[in-house]
Amino acid sequence: MDHFLYRNGELHAEDVPVRDIAAAVGTPFYCYSAATLERHYRLFDEALDGTDHLVCYAIKAASNVAILKLLGDLGAGMDVVSGGEYARARAAGVPGERIVFSGVGKTRDEMRIALMGGIRQFNLESEPEMEALNAVALELGVVAPVTIRVNPDVDAQTHAKIATGKSENKFGIPISKARKVYAEAAALPGLEVVGIDVHIGSQLTQLAPFRQAYEKVAVLAQELRADGHDIRRLDLGGGLGIPYTRSNEVPPLPSDYGAMIKETLGHLGCEIEIEPGRLVAGNAGIMVSSVIYVKEGEGRNFLILDAAMNDLVRPAMYDAHHDIVPVAEPVPGGEPATYDIVGPVCETGDTFARSREMTAMQQGDLVAFRSAGAYGAVMASEYNSRPLIPEVLVRGDQFAVIRPRPSLEEMIERDNIPSWL
Ligand code: LLP
Repeated sequence: MDHFLYRNGELHAEDVPVRDIAAAVGTPFYCYSAATLERHYRLFDEALDGTDHLVCYAIKAASNVAILKLLGDLGAGMDVVSGGEYARARAAGVPGERIVFSGVGKTRDEMRIALMGGIRQFNLESEPEMEALNAVALELGVVAPVTIRVNPDVDAQTHAKIATGKSENKFGIPISKARKVYAEAAALPGLEVVGIDVHIGSQLTQLAPFRQAYEKVAVLAQELRADGHDIRRLDLGGGLGIPYTRSNEVPPLPSDYGAMIKETLGHLGCEIEIEPGRLVAGNAGIMVSSVIYVKEGEGRNFLILDAAMNDLVRPAMYDAHHDIVPVAEPVPGGEPATYDIVGPVCETGDTFARSREMTAMQQGDLVAFRSAGAYGAVMASEYNSRPLIPEVLVRGDQFAVIRPRPSLEEMIERDNIPSWL
């Protein structure tokens, strides 16, 4: 459920007509609903009710500091994967003890920043990384709390580019080697082993792969305890999928996911961490764009928008589907049309949808891309020298620009012409 609904013939973001925001900030732009973000966070928090837990929002999904503050103020932890994300979480007022640091390639500088600023735990992914963190911690005279991410060799049954739990993927250490690697970690004086980490992929639409992975983690936890490790925390990653269309089958709900976690891991008495990103932010955001031209091609019509692949890359990168709806509610019996919906960027990959059936559109009409809140703005680039598009946050009947659109001058000013040119 989200808070982008038609009312009085117009798409609204909560109580604000999307058309009013477009008039104020221009198109294209991203627009988030505070109520939806809050609701999605709470669904996860409530799903783990009765179990010691922390929902660590994966900020890679949507990392505007205003969004992080909103979630942080509700008590959310954060999952970060770079020094930049760590700095964003801290800038939003999230204390270090609620931040977990994931990722296969943490640099020593990033480790230093997090150790000095405060960190709940590092999720380590390799032996060389263990040695690096040990060295940095000893240099700073501290002990770094760590889990080790295990790769359970489970097929997440999602898009190959976002599956991470198979043995051929770069992530984690093979679960078969875990006892040896944990013994090595325990011998390093700069590290304190606190638990196990696992994350098998994103946009999972079934519980079965999660269950397979978590069952393996349950067995491992007991083996590691028998080996003398104090396994008290389990970080179960993110990955629960969202419905991208109104028609397709609905992925499991956070409450189903939470029940399965309790069933597979509850007996261990560990503190549970989860790292949802997409489900928190995905359907809490839309991207709004205007029709520049309606162009008749041979055997097909193109809807040319002012948004492009640089603003929302998911269709070009993963062949992802986003529902694209008119901001003016279609009237029953209105004229139907079929379009290839494209942006102005100079490559054929700049296609949002092929042969999409919708109501007939005209120049200047507004459209909204649904489910664009996660992996939208954060993956945008300035390709074709198109400035990053603004982000807007709505709460009730108010809205605020949480990241303004840079001017062309601001974009160009960052470049530097050397004196010798
Ligand atoms: N934890 C870790 C260690 C991750 O690598 C990820 C996502 C998450 C949590 C959050 O997963 P989520 O709950 O959002 O599924 N750009 C792609 C998605 C990449 C996901 C990468 N890792 C897309 O647009 O579909």
